[in-house]
Amino acid sequence: MHRQLLSVPDGVNLSIQIGKLTLQNPVMVASGTFGYGVEYAQLLDLNRLGAVVVKGICLNPVRGNPTPRTVEVASGLINAIGLQGPGVDGFIKKYWPFLKTLKVPTIINIWGTTVDEYAEVARRFDALGGVGALELNVSCPNIKDGGAQFGTDLKLLAQVVGACRKATKLPLITKMSPNVVSIAPYAKAAEEAGSDALSIMNSYPAMAIDIETRKPKLANVTGGLTGPCIKPIAIKLVWDAAQAVKIPIIGMGGIQSAADAIEFMMAGATAVAVGTANFYEPQTALQVIAGISEFMKKKNLGSVKEITGSVQPTE
Ligand SMILES: Cc1cc2nc3c(=O)[nH]c(=O)nc-3n(C[C@H](O)[C@H](O)[C@H](O)COP(=O)(O)O)c2cc1C
Repeated sequence: MHRQLLSVPDGVNLSIQIGKLTLQNPVMVASGTFGYGVEYAQLLDLNRLGAVVVKGICLNPVRGNPTPRTVEVASGLINAIGLQGPGVDGFIKKYWPFLKTLKVPTIINIWGTTVDEYAEVARRFDALGGVGALELNVSCPNIKDGGAQFGTDLKLLAQVVGACRKATKLPLITKMSPNVVSIAPYAKAAEEAGSDALSIMNSYPAMAIDIETRKPKLANVTGGLTGPCIKPIAIKLVWDAAQAVKIPIIGMGGIQSAADAIEFMMAGATAVAVGTANFYEPQTALQVIAGISEFMKKKNLGSVKEITGSVQPTE
């Protein structure tokens, strides 16, 4: 049974655009924190989300890193899952039959170890039909080959986005790394190479040590930090990128409430994603949608787009 939540008040328009994709509201779930959707289907009504974003998929099945793969830290989580996944064929066989029955778009997070592999995965999902958009993970800190190396090298980033652009007509979202001196040139490179949107941010490289055993708490030694502790970093990155590009930004990093989401939107995000919070309150995304609607009603806003970039200059 789904708990009853506040409904969206009349006259409030929550819809937004990501490239040619229209979402009924700007709140999605972040890749890797929501499985393949089906795992959460008993916990909330998936059809009320803006979109379902699935765990990263590459061409072939991946076992991921040894355990322990997650550790809680103050106001956050460090994970080193290592992009475990069923590969394109496994995903299509096991998860697509469920996902294609949803009324809301599925966004598939993809990755590869080479530029050609990214493009091949994009081509395969283009051919599948019915996919809402592809999110290019060029920013995972937890794997040796692929991931962050593509998102922190301007030339490689442009090559990956450009190759995927050629491989598919699906909307492309580039998932940005926070681990750069300035995000603006990377945001621009992704835009110029044909990305329809950016998602900001992926996890931040991090580490924790057990002082009794003197051993790292993760088998992989390091991982990626997520959750409320990264929110102010993410807000700043969204704000920086919003000054640099015209394409929409999907903001994420520690969102637990509508207030958090609205803060991201004021910084320049068109949409938002709820990540780590799904692990301790699976209904967070629905609460965020309801809370944004209430805020809009209180502030007399007709369209959620009015919130985007509405941060005011300081005196
Ligand atoms: C356990 C875990 C797995 C993740 N897996 C992926 C992934 O496969 N692809 C990806 O682009 N991001 C992945 N992320 C990053 C999230 O999508 C998101 O960018 C990040 O967690 C920040 O949002 P949050 O603080 O709300 O969790 C993962 C995050 C966590 C916690």
